[in-house]
Amino acid sequence: MVAPTGKTVVVSGGTDGMGRAVALDRLRRGDTVVVLGSNEAKGRTLQETAGADASRLRFLRADLSLIAENERVIANIADHHRRVDALVLCANRQSPRRQETAEGLEFVFALYYLSRYLLSYGLRPQFEQAEAPVIVSIAGVGLTAGSIDFSDLQQTSKYNAIKAQLQAGRANDLLGVAFAEQAESRARFVMYHPGFTRSGDVSVLGPVTRTAIRVLAMVGARSVDKAIAPVLGFLDEPPQAPLTARDRHKTVPSSLPTLDPERARRLAAHTEALLGRVRGSGEALS
Ligand SMILES: NC(=O)c1ccc[n+]([C@@H]2O[C@H](COP(=O)([O-])OP(=O)(O)OC[C@H]3O[C@@H](n4cnc5c(N)ncnc54)[C@H](OP(=O)(O)O)[C@@H]3O)[C@@H](O)[C@H]2O)c1
Repeated sequence: MVAPTGKTVVVSGGTDGMGRAVALDRLRRGDTVVVLGSNEAKGRTLQETAGADASRLRFLRADLSLIAENERVIANIADHHRRVDALVLCANRQSPRRQETAEGLEFVFALYYLSRYLLSYGLRPQFEQAEAPVIVSIAGVGLTAGSIDFSDLQQTSKYNAIKAQLQAGRANDLLGVAFAEQAESRARFVMYHPGFTRSGDVSVLGPVTRTAIRVLAMVGARSVDKAIAPVLGFLDEPPQAPLTARDRHKTVPSSLPTLDPERARRLAAHTEALLGRVRGSGEALS
């Protein structure tokens, strides 16, 4: 049996796809791993797959599209783990139609972007206890498609599933920029675009799109192992720089318009105002 390393890794969206593969790899190396996901059955399967390493695995079932659930998870982690060495952010799900969470937010914005914001900032006290803390956000950095509609962040008008994914993806690019600039944390922030990978839950898509994506994935997508190899490298040796942006093996230049610090500050301010309004009122928001 492998000796425990004493390191703790938190993986949001760790029950499936790339997050699951990262979680299992870290368990095999002796880390303690906290996996966040919404599906209890997937959590149980992960425990079974982990075998002897399952004693170092904690699965926390949570719907990360809800602010209150992210806050519950952060409090739980703080109660059980003095230190967090790495946070790997993978949770995401497509939504063909616009859905609103019980807190009045558009689902993709809330799950793909806001959860990452909350976990990154919320775990700062635990990062401070680690030697070389690192956050790795697996999303789409380097892509320039899509934009942030500051006048309608919740996409109340003309919702489109791809537009929602792209907006949240660009918001995640700006989250990294803002965190590195403003968070006053020793945690290094890494944004990583894995490229088209043989993972991803397509069950919510229509049958034609689902089949097309599966066929394309068989032909052109990378294996999960190949896609996560750089992530494992970032966990082993966190970069020195506060912010790293990597599209597969290529460094993404910080001059890219999608990494504009001014827009990053603007989004961070919008996000804080939004969180204040949800926490304060519990009313639907725009
Ligand atoms: N696959 C690709 O080709 C590709 C390409 C570029 C970027 N990416 C990005 O890479 C990241 C990981 O992708 P992947 O392909 O590994 O995704 P995946 O296989 O679909 O896994 C997504 C994870 O998110 C979790 N999740 C979904 N809804 C949740 C919710 N409401 N609350 C908590 N957890 C939730 C799922 O767990 P439960 O089912 O347990 O909730 C699952 O563990 C995503 O951000 C994706 O956008 C992927």
